[in-house]
Amino acid sequence: MEKIIVLDFGGQYAHLIANKIRRLNVFSEILEPNTETEKLKDTKGIIFSGGPASVYENDAPAFNQEVFSLGIPILGICYGHQLTVHALGGVVEKGKTQEYGIAKLRVKKASQLLEGFEGNGQVWMSHADIVKELPEGFETIASTSHCENALIENKEKKIFGLQFHPEVVHTTNGMKILDNFLKICDCRKDWTMKNYVAEKIAEIKQSAAGKNVFLLASGGVDSTVCLALLNNALGNDRVRALHIDNGFMRKNESALVMKALKKQGFENLQILDASEYFLEKTSGVTSPEEKRKIIGNAFIEAQKQALEKMGLDSGDWLLGQGTIYPDTIETGRTKNSAVIKTHHNRVEIIQKMIEEGKVIEPLNLLYKDEVREIGEELGLPKELVWRHPFPGPGLAVRALCTEGIEEKVSESVKAKVQAIAGNFGLESTVLPLKSVGVQGDHRTYKHPAVLNGIAEWEELEQASTRITNEVQEINRVVWLVAGEIEEKTQPATLTKERMDDLREADAIVEEKLLEFELYDKVWQFPVVLVPLDVQGKEAIILRPVLSTEAMTARFADLPLEFVKSTAQKIMQTGKFGAVLYDITHKPPGTIEWE
Ligand code: XMP
Repeated sequence: MEKIIVLDFGGQYAHLIANKIRRLNVFSEILEPNTETEKLKDTKGIIFSGGPASVYENDAPAFNQEVFSLGIPILGICYGHQLTVHALGGVVEKGKTQEYGIAKLRVKKASQLLEGFEGNGQVWMSHADIVKELPEGFETIASTSHCENALIENKEKKIFGLQFHPEVVHTTNGMKILDNFLKICDCRKDWTMKNYVAEKIAEIKQSAAGKNVFLLASGGVDSTVCLALLNNALGNDRVRALHIDNGFMRKNESALVMKALKKQGFENLQILDASEYFLEKTSGVTSPEEKRKIIGNAFIEAQKQALEKMGLDSGDWLLGQGTIYPDTIETGRTKNSAVIKTHHNRVEIIQKMIEEGKVIEPLNLLYKDEVREIGEELGLPKELVWRHPFPGPGLAVRALCTEGIEEKVSESVKAKVQAIAGNFGLESTVLPLKSVGVQGDHRTYKHPAVLNGIAEWEELEQASTRITNEVQEINRVVWLVAGEIEEKTQPATLTKERMDDLREADAIVEEKLLEFELYDKVWQFPVVLVPLDVQGKEAIILRPVLSTEAMTARFADLPLEFVKSTAQKIMQTGKFGAVLYDITHKPPGTIEWE
């Protein structure tokens, strides 16, 4: 099989690029940038991924310079683009401002990389440093308004550099660019998901030889596909699954999951109601990362108890997990990447078990779209395979908690936000609490701004992008759709009562999505409870997003009819003081608020 090598410069990018190359039916291998020359030779093309470093940092990833003298086509992306320029004698300037989000590409010259393009297209940017002077032999092919050298090439040597990210869906012609690069590399397309499934089944048989596998089945896409794959490889009697109700599930979720999985013939499945245990463990905790860690550990503890109760000797058992690639990367577990969120299947005890060879994770290099494809390949029904993703810690990371001490926002920050909002005829304020975001591959924990007034989605998007780009203290923007806002919070922790309130709002959203036939139009729709104090009542945030792999996402601009009808029904419960709509892309906001 011919292949493309992706050099991993950290952050989330290398695997996403490899995923996209696989989508084009070419096998891709990820290697460290300092891999010895001999191993780099065996490929049709090399891609340098983006990454969080700057070429001027002392701890920039070590890198084998000989890659440039192999005569193999090279595509440098973002950091990889800057590195190419820097290494070959051009000039990269330390960025003064950062550019995140969408830009328009203006094509100035024809290039093989842009073959088949219609119009100029939109591209996705996430960078601070910028290429100022090109090395000898290179020329500028396309620019954006903030970035002169958005696409450069050395035609003779077949070396290309892109400041933007072709691998994310928001770059409209991104796949075309990657496909053109494959053509330039003259690479054969002979990789398929069917082969991959067969390969994985053989691999599972080998790594689980003489052992049985135990797996926690949430009912989500990943664990369900993992369970089906394990069942396929090892047979029903060597696989046991347990569904834990952690008290942070959606309304009626556990019953639904059990029914759906049993219907699929997964007989080896049990249920454990551990909701009180989880609530007790998280009682009084307010920090998002702490919540995540406690919940991850509580899963292991509940699982241990269940194993004992089920009489399974844990020595002969491996732990199966439906971990997919983004879970690993966001937890900061690969070289050169930062912790953004600790996923429940990546807490310390599990890391230790992985090192001891006690964990089996057949999906850990894949993205959700590939996992779904495997699910279909294995014959799972559409309702299971195409469910919206739901985080392991569940509603616990969708209910913000606070000790009630206001996270004060300065008047100057509010004035900066209003200066931008005013351009769109909108009022604004900044919330005295924080949510998690991701900018330039790093975690952020900052305030959301609120916009209030009548505007089109397009204007809201522009205002939101400008606010998060220009106001350092803000990583998220929401739009007020019902009720009112007070810049006050009230003490709040994870309680059954709050979970029930959130479950009710979440169920209304799901019902409305189905009523308006929008369920399949969005990737995921978190409903978030925030402890504002609007005359004693909390607020609900609607966070529908469009994505294909969750590493980047756009907020979904759903029909206003749906938004109004949903907000109205949520307000009618009498439990909430306001309904807001998150109008932030990822980056700079993450999909979940915590
Ligand atoms: P963020 O919020 O980081 O989320 O943009 C990216 C995707 O991951 C999901 N998510 C999780 N999934 N365990 C999971 O299995 C977790 O701990 C977890 N945290 C976030 C999130 O819902 C989104 O689809």
